[in-house]
Amino acid sequence: MKNIVAIYPGSFDPVTNGHLDLIERGSKLFDKLIVAIAQNLDKSEALFSMEERKEMLVAMTEELDNVSVEIFEGLLVSYCIRQGANAVLRGIRAVSDYEFELQMALMNRKMEPRVETVFMMPAQQYSYLSSRIVREIAKLGGPLTGLVPAMVEERLRERVAHRRHISATGKHLL
Ligand code: PNS
Repeated sequence: MKNIVAIYPGSFDPVTNGHLDLIERGSKLFDKLIVAIAQNLDKSEALFSMEERKEMLVAMTEELDNVSVEIFEGLLVSYCIRQGANAVLRGIRAVSDYEFELQMALMNRKMEPRVETVFMMPAQQYSYLSSRIVREIAKLGGPLTGLVPAMVEERLRERVAHRRHISATGKHLL
């Protein structure tokens, strides 16, 4: 049997239950799975720092022995080669994801034919879930139960309250 090391790349701002579902599925399929947080080029909409995202992902995956969490910069395929990875894992939720994912997978293959992209579907109840929607619901004070782990929900509430305080007073909370 081959030793398959897969990279699961993404922004994870923040990690959702959909991501965690895919990580669990991926950990069963691959010998090793590296969850890789991409250093943002566009930070304007970011809610959490790279380190905060990593901290939440590490806490949520600590029971999965073959899963690790890293931060990477630059091209994904170059990072794969540096890590000795032969696969990239991406989640496809709905048909609408497919076009962009296909473009990325084919471009990555053109740049680095040694790395294969593997698509997996998350559980159906997460097919409408994304970090962007979670950030928006959090900012508007909507319910987050079932969308993100309790720890992430708590961090989101704190962060949104902190941002609101800053924009209302111009001052940081202690
Ligand atoms: O969670 P996201 O935002 O859908 O993840 C997108 C991500 C991070 C996987 C993608 O933007 C990426 O691979 N970035 C690294 C830079 C890179 O290699 N870009 C070329 C892709 S063809």
